[in-house]
Formats: sequence, C-alpha cells, structure tokens
Amino acid sequence: MSSESFESGMLSGRSRVAGIIGWPVTHSRSPRLHGFWLRRYGIDGAYVPLPVQPERFAEALRALPLLGFAGANVTVPHKEAALASVDRASREARHIGAVNTIVVAADGTLEGRNTDGFGFSENLRDALPGWSAVAGPAVLLGAGGAARAVAVALLDAGAPEVRLANRTAERAERLAADIGGPIRVVGWDDRTAALADASLLVNTTTLGMAGQPPLDLPLDRLPPTAVVNDIIYAPLETALLAAARRRGNPVVDGLGMLLHQARPAFCAWFGVEPEVTPELRRFVLQDPLGGPR
Ligand code: ATR
Repeated sequence: MSSESFESGMLSGRSRVAGIIGWPVTHSRSPRLHGFWLRRYGIDGAYVPLPVQPERFAEALRALPLLGFAGANVTVPHKEAALASVDRASREARHIGAVNTIVVAADGTLEGRNTDGFGFSENLRDALPGWSAVAGPAVLLGAGGAARAVAVALLDAGAPEVRLANRTAERAERLAADIGGPIRVVGWDDRTAALADASLLVNTTTLGMAGQPPLDLPLDRLPPTAVVNDIIYAPLETALLAAARRRGNPVVDGLGMLLHQARPAFCAWFGVEPEVTPELRRFVLQDPLGGPR
C-alpha cells in the first residue's frame, strides 16, 4: 500500500478484502465507514456487505480464508453464532459472549474479537477527555448484546458498580451471572430511583430509536454532573440526550461507538490505524439513498 502511488477507489490483484456478514445487512453503515477510511488512506482494499442467512453462517465463515478475505465484521443475528464458530476468541469476546470482528490469521484460522466495548469506552474518552469509569456508579438500561459489551467495558475500566435495569428481569439476571463483578440488577420500575448518585447513565435499549417507542425516564434524581450516553445514533440527539442536555448534564451520542469499534478491525485487516474525525462523522451520517438523517 502506498498513498502516493495508489489511485483512490481502484483495486488491484493484491487488494485486501473484508466485509460485514449479517442478515439483513442492507441497513449497515459499516461499508460506508470502512470505505471512507480506505479512500482516506489510499489503501488497495475493499469492504463489502455480505448477506448470509443464519442457516448458512458457519459455512460462509469457513469460506473467508478460502476466498482470501482478511476478515469480516459480524452483525445481527450472527454475533453469538460467530463465537461458537471461530477457532480462537479474545477474552472480551468470551466475556461478552459474542464476536463482532473476525481476523483471518496467516494459517487460515479464524480469530474472533469483540470491539464493541472498546468502541463504547473510546467514544466517551474522545467526547469527554478525562472521563473515567472509576468516578462512580453507572446505570445501564438494557440487557441485549450491546449492554453486555458496555457492562464488560465499564467493569474492565474500574466502575465500582453497574446498576442494570431491563424490562425482562431474567435477561438482566443472566447478564449479571454471566459477566460477574459488581453488577446490581434493579427492577425496570425502579430505574428512576437507581439514578441517585450515579455518575453515568447509558441507554442500550431500542427505546428512543427512530420508529420505536420513547424511553420514559424522568431525570430529576440524576446528579447534574452525571454523563449521559445513548448508544442510539438514529436520531443522533435522542429525547434522552436532549432532556439531559437541557438540565446541564454532559451528553455523548451513540455514533462514536460505531466509529470507534471499527478502528481495531480496520487496523488488523488493512494495517493502518484510522482516525475518527468530524468529517468521518458527517460522512457516515449521510444517507446515500436519501440525504442526511
Ligand atoms: P442489542 O443486542 O442490539 O443490544 P436487543 O438484544 O434487541 O439488542 O436488546 C434490545 C433491548 O431493548 C433489550 O434490553 C430490550 O428489553 P427486553 O430484554 O425486555 O426485550 C429493550 N427493549 C426493547 N423494547 C422495549 C420496550 N418497549 N420497553 C423496554 N425495553 C425494551
């Protein structure tokens, strides 16, 4: 790869190729994100959408080394299946119980990683330099795959307590049992009370996402210094973030988590450490089919 000699957007017989495996995969912004970096760094490479039905997933994964792929991202509904199918998995992936990034090793074996927790922490550090999980209790809403990644990231970063609230209590209990550490499950109806003396609030539910019901959460009990992060990025400013901003809490939107989780994968496949910039944010937010959203 040479940024001087390589014509942007062109491919050669030596191109490195990666992609995203999902079903469906049409909604994914990852091709746009990695495509931006490939052009930005003048890399002879491509990143393509790979629609794969669940029943063909294991087979498709095994095809990656045969086809010369450098690796792939894995998204809904394959992340848990990916953990079961790779040859090796990182500590984070095992702890979270899911793989979002696969790297094809030189010997053709598959290494599974999970960079969602990294993306979460880096997003907060990038948006609020000096942010530290050690500062105090965190309130985490939701118990899906994203919540697992955020919980692991918070505990790894030294959060003294994670208060976990989810509509379906058993799912929260399972998350807490699987991950261990200072996670305290609180009832969904007690989520407002759980905000008292918290230093961080993270929404990983789908509530507040475009087309979904709103998140009902009065913030009166939340200290004004607490950081509020919504991992939703459509819309970019959710009603939760708008309400938090109005009362003076520091807020962090969810787009950065998507952008930062992609950094280690891009580096592993294409050999360049990419940067998250305002220009990248604008580019990824733009909907190629219908203007900005
Ligand atoms: P992901 O894996 O991307 O995190 P998910 O597994 O679909 O997504 O999780 C969605 C989260 O939003 C869950 O915590 C879900 O709560 P349940 O575990 O009870 O399903 C939460 N969620 C979705 N709709 C909700 C609603 N109407 N009220 C409360 N929580 C809701």
